[in-house]
Amino acid sequence: MGLTDNAAQLEEGLREKVLKAMDYLEIPLYEKRNDGSNLPVHPINQTHLCREMKYSDDASKNAFNPFMLQALHEMRVGLYAVLLINHLKITDKEWKHNMFTAYLCHDYGKDLIIGPNDCFPINVNHKFGSREETLVKNHVSLDIALGNVFNPIVTSIIERHHYYRKHDPYPKKPKTLETPEVKYLAQMLGIVDFYDAASTRINRRTQQSLLGKILGRKFQSQRSIRNMLFDEYGDQQLSYQGKHLPHAEKTGRQFIEEMYAHRIFGRKNRLNPFEDIF
Ligand SMILES: [Fe+2]
Ligand SMILES: [Fe+2]
Repeated sequence: MGLTDNAAQLEEGLREKVLKAMDYLEIPLYEKRNDGSNLPVHPINQTHLCREMKYSDDASKNAFNPFMLQALHEMRVGLYAVLLINHLKITDKEWKHNMFTAYLCHDYGKDLIIGPNDCFPINVNHKFGSREETLVKNHVSLDIALGNVFNPIVTSIIERHHYYRKHDPYPKKPKTLETPEVKYLAQMLGIVDFYDAASTRINRRTQQSLLGKILGRKFQSQRSIRNMLFDEYGDQQLSYQGKHLPHAEKTGRQFIEEMYAHRIFGRKNRLNPFEDIF
């Protein structure tokens, strides 16, 4: 897929990769029932990522809209989890599943707070007011029933995906249990989430530059993204000495540098950097 493909093709391409990733990680989407019908068994079935996008006409199919941009972001973050699983040599199947599901569905709460005919908060072009900010922060809140969809570990990771950053972390008091695995996986999710959002961000001041961005010309430079990542996550300690994942002892800065050195970050096609996996 080239940089100039239309939105629907890009979405289809990423969706195909996500399904291949689930196959690769041996995560079942459905289980066959005795009567031959399929029983949905993975929470992705309940998120917009699994639903067919509805387009009113060809023009809307080929255009990027806020919902689609959000879905693309979530799919990419899920696919970064696969690169990380391979890079860190995570072998425990259950933890691979938890990690992939949490990364893929980390912004699921946005589905729950977005009204059916209302694109808020992803269509907003101005700086958020305080009411809007509170609403957006609710996308990690257990009050919106995240726990009904995901297992307790995935829910704990999702609740903390904005918790370890330096500036304005939230929620102030997470309600779920923080185990060493949850902390480590949520720290890395925060970094990957930030990286993907920063490297594909629409310039809110000049919406017309979106096309330029899609053509790969108007993205923020890797150097400035790396500096923002260092500022937000560089000082924290990523440490894991438990039983389920390979051990780690590094600073956020070292982890970010490692991501660039191993070409997990810094890939050329920012909207679909996964052409060579699977
Ligand atoms: Fe988020
Ligand atoms: Fe996100």
